[in-house]
Amino acid sequence: MKAVILVGGEGTRLRPLTVNLPKPMLPVVNRPFLEHVIEYLKGQGIGDVILSMGYRSDVIEEYFGDGKRLGVDLRLVVESTPLGTAGGVKNVEQFLDGTFLVLNGDIMTDLDLRAMIAFHRERGSKATISLTPVDDPTAYGLVETDAQGRVQRFIEKPRPEDITTNLINAGTYVLEREVLDLIPSAKYHMFERGVFPDLLSRNHPIYGYRSNSYWIDIGTPAKYLSVNRDILHGRVARLQSELKSYEGIRVGEGADIDPSAVLVGPVILGQRVKVGARARVTGPTVIGDDSVIGPDSVVEESILWSKVRIAGRVQLKGAILGRDTVVEQDSSILGGAIVSDSCSVGKDNKLDRGIRVWPGHSIGPRMISF
Ligand code: GDD
Ligand code: MG
Repeated sequence: MKAVILVGGEGTRLRPLTVNLPKPMLPVVNRPFLEHVIEYLKGQGIGDVILSMGYRSDVIEEYFGDGKRLGVDLRLVVESTPLGTAGGVKNVEQFLDGTFLVLNGDIMTDLDLRAMIAFHRERGSKATISLTPVDDPTAYGLVETDAQGRVQRFIEKPRPEDITTNLINAGTYVLEREVLDLIPSAKYHMFERGVFPDLLSRNHPIYGYRSNSYWIDIGTPAKYLSVNRDILHGRVARLQSELKSYEGIRVGEGADIDPSAVLVGPVILGQRVKVGARARVTGPTVIGDDSVIGPDSVVEESILWSKVRIAGRVQLKGAILGRDTVVEQDSSILGGAIVSDSCSVGKDNKLDRGIRVWPGHSIGPRMISF
């Protein structure tokens, strides 16, 4: 069976992290998010994958190519203007046959696809939508079903007063090919607001497949931090073994850790990472390849991409730092602050309260303080 992964969105809620990288390429435990999704599909027996791309497709293409390195067949299709979730699938129609899968490209899950496909077939469903419970459905698509799982109603991005269930569209669909006939060609069209309500009004059988497996979408910086932390804490079943075998600390090849430095897991350090004298790295923390942590610095609950250079006596807590960013001595970056790629933060700064620094920006010495 083939799978289409939708990766054409602009990732606006994740800016400035998504200025130079599309959302699926954000590093999660030091690998592009999309690589985890493709590995997941492979593990579920799906090795034929189509990427429906738009925003910054060049970055995706350069990294994945034809997918051979990952052991899958990858077909890359770019749309010149955004076609929406359904339009993006219609655009790859010529590569689809029989029953197929569609996945939102910003979801990390342990959902059992084989069980979902079996459920779809047993019910004679035309479209089966994975469902997951969430605390607040307002940011998602609410899906009401009857006791057998047959869908009764969709409400995309419901207002608080419209909430009748905590089950939402979890962004994985099993679809019959004829569903494509309901999607106009070369036009913006969505499953959530167009195709699914359409199928319902024509009385076609659509089912919701409920799962309590791990599920998260990485739509916002807070969720991006959460997915990294959840993996580090072993909450994503298929990624558990890696960290456990290292008792919560994984150090990449060529890393150079001063004997007086302290690491408190769960921590992942990429290749050739340097940690200076008396520095302290406390998990859940991920540090990308070739990054350097200076002497007496403290890094806690943070995500650093590759080639980040942290000078001495710096404090990072709950921070996200992009590739090639430099932080000079005695500065602190705290409280959900994001300093994206290729930035420089001069000495004696204090960045806090979710401050966001756009790529390529420099902050002089002693410029920002809360
Ligand atoms: N090819 C293509 N073209 N892909 C797109 C486009 C487009 O125009 N627009 C969005 N996508 C991709 C995004 O990259 C993402 O992977 C996926 O489609 C879903 O888009 P989001 O922008 O992330 O949607 P959402 O998070 O607001 O809502 C969707 O996901 C929720 C679950 O996370 C909906 O499907 C909701 O119903 C659902 O609950
Ligand atoms: Mg999303």
